[in-house]
Amino acid sequence: MKNLATAAALALSALLTNAVAQSSIGGATCSPTLTAKSAAPSVADGYVARLVANGLTKPRGIKFDSQGALLVVESGVGITALSLVDAGQSCLSVGSKRTVISNPDLNHGIELSTNGSTLYASTSDVLYSWEYSPQSQTNTSQPRVLINQMAGTDHTTRTLVLSKHVPGMIVVARGSTSNLDLQAEDLSSGISQVKAFNLNNMTEPYTYTNDGLLLGWGLRNEVGIAEEPITGAIYGVENSVDELERSGQDIHQDNPGEELNFLGYLNGTATPGQGGQGVNYGYPSCFSAWNAADVPDFTGQTGQQFAIGDQNSTVNDTICASLQAPRLVFQAHMAPLDILFNEQGTAAWVTFHGSWDRTDPVGYKLSVIEFANGEPVQPSNSTTAAIDIVSNADNSKCPGGCFRPVGLAWDSQGRLFMSSDATGEIFVVLRADGNSTQSVGSNATGTLPDQAASSSGTGTAASGSATSSSVASVGGMSLLAVLFGVLAFLV
Ligand SMILES: *[C@@H]1O[C@H](CO)[C@@H](O)[C@H](O)[C@H]1NC(C)=O
Ligand SMILES: *[C@@H]1O[C@H](CO)[C@@H](O)[C@H](O)[C@H]1NC(C)=O
Ligand SMILES: *[C@@H]1O[C@H](CO)[C@@H](O)[C@H](O)[C@H]1NC(C)=O
Ligand SMILES: *[C@@H]1O[C@H](CO)[C@@H](O)[C@H](O)[C@H]1NC(C)=O
Ligand SMILES: *[C@@H]1O[C@H](CO)[C@@H](O)[C@H](O)[C@H]1NC(C)=O
Ligand SMILES: *[C@@H]1O[C@H](CO)[C@@H](O)[C@H](O)[C@H]1NC(C)=O
Ligand SMILES: *[C@@H]1O[C@H](CO)[C@@H](O)[C@H](O)[C@H]1NC(C)=O
Ligand SMILES: *[C@@H]1O[C@H](CO)[C@@H](O)[C@H](O)[C@H]1NC(C)=O
Ligand SMILES: *[C@@H]1O[C@H](CO)[C@@H](O)[C@H](O)[C@H]1NC(C)=O
Repeated sequence: MKNLATAAALALSALLTNAVAQSSIGGATCSPTLTAKSAAPSVADGYVARLVANGLTKPRGIKFDSQGALLVVESGVGITALSLVDAGQSCLSVGSKRTVISNPDLNHGIELSTNGSTLYASTSDVLYSWEYSPQSQTNTSQPRVLINQMAGTDHTTRTLVLSKHVPGMIVVARGSTSNLDLQAEDLSSGISQVKAFNLNNMTEPYTYTNDGLLLGWGLRNEVGIAEEPITGAIYGVENSVDELERSGQDIHQDNPGEELNFLGYLNGTATPGQGGQGVNYGYPSCFSAWNAADVPDFTGQTGQQFAIGDQNSTVNDTICASLQAPRLVFQAHMAPLDILFNEQGTAAWVTFHGSWDRTDPVGYKLSVIEFANGEPVQPSNSTTAAIDIVSNADNSKCPGGCFRPVGLAWDSQGRLFMSSDATGEIFVVLRADGNSTQSVGSNATGTLPDQAASSSGTGTAASGSATSSSVASVGGMSLLAVLFGVLAFLV
């Protein structure tokens, strides 16, 4: 079935390719031109986005090899190398496509060593490496198991980031096994944690739960991870809980916020509490406010954490305020899946896969966050930190009629590439003035998040409360919430 669908998609794209002769984008005349499966991307002033590949099967993590081929994790298939024909600027197309690793369990994570000859990829359970030849686009060794015993249901991606600051360290994120996973309360569970592993001194495979440097726990599902290039700070973007309830009220339309978390350094300088009990980020007991006014009895503001359910002496707002708060929050349910810095450390690009747990769909876009001196320019209570660059013009058509951003990668010319799993596509994003997309900094232009969107969300909270039987509350999670949690693996 999958092959038929892929064949059909390829045939369709070939037809569309032939139907559209030429187009002029970003100053360059391109031929052939692909047509996006859904509506064409809506792009902020000063930017260009163009479709460069289609007909892929759920493309997730992407990474350029040292010869300029784009390696793509096609979830449920394996790793594919796309050799691109480059006619300059945004004029790129796929010249040839080759299967590198055939393994249907590979689902998201991908990395390459700095020397370009070791490939890393993850299943829900295992981190593998292979020796890789970019000349032949093949693995030249059997897979080696580096980390195992990571298996889990629901949130099955295991995002990988190789450190440039501390060579040999690889960061691996592991999410929860359900929407509200009480196992995460136990540090020894290894669930809802981000850890780093030293690949330079390993003698046998690490086990996720027992080994590694703990960067943080109480992190529900940190799908996007990145190392800030100047300071070496590790940042993660978190997909927070669905169907949230507090004091008997359904507050899920605009809470909790999705998060940007600072996770410390890998260089041996421990941030307070790193590696111990100290750095708990709250899940599954504490969540951060996006729309604080909607949280009953909460005196805090956007970006501060509050207790789930009914407050008591073991889980209350005082205790939640003592845990590690996010550095930024984003509108609830947008589902951030990747974060990637520019080389200068002045911008972090974030993909938002898009919501399912909200009456009016939100997300489905690529945004940029301004950074300076190793941290976001905006304060932690900001609701305008993420500036939209590429989005779907009409979110009411989502998810069915929208691209859904997942993975990000820079090529050697500073062009930004973005995968969309739902539509099987890869886009390139450039500045319209011909400057490198890398050059975005504190002068980023784009569309500020629509303040009206969150207040209209508040207005629809009444319809949301009709589903109050399915809200998440510790110890009282309904079957529906569990089902929604299972659905959430789709992010
Ligand atoms: C490339 O780097 C990896 C990771 O550091 C290392 O294991 C491998 O031996 C290196 N390969 C070559 C050919 O230098
Ligand atoms: C490449 O990896 C696959 C498994 O992922 C393995 O079956 C194959 O033998 C490897 N190729 C080489 C040359 O070792
Ligand atoms: C490897 O180094 C890390 C520190 O980076 C240390 O915690 C770990 O115990 C070492 N592992 C081995 C097998 O020596
Ligand atoms: C680790 O990195 C941080 C941030 O760049 C820096 O302040 C600290 O001095 C570094 N520690 C070591 C041991 O190099
Ligand atoms: C306190 O509230 C939390 C969250 O609702 C719940 O899990 C816990 O069981 C409660 N504890 C007591 C002692 O009632
Ligand atoms: C939370 O519980 C602690 C005791 O565990 C108590 O000291 C504090 O006053 C409580 N705060 C609230 C807001 O109930
Ligand atoms: C953010 O917090 C600061 C310090 O508490 C406050 O001065 C500012 O008004 C807050 N901004 C917003 C948008 O709430
Ligand atoms: C490109 O960026 C440089 C600064 O890095 C700036 O001087 C120049 O005006 C930019 N080019 C265009 C076409 O805007
Ligand atoms: C932003 O623009 C100002 C004025 O043109 C310039 O001085 C500054 O370096 C720019 N910042 C970045 C990060 O590009």
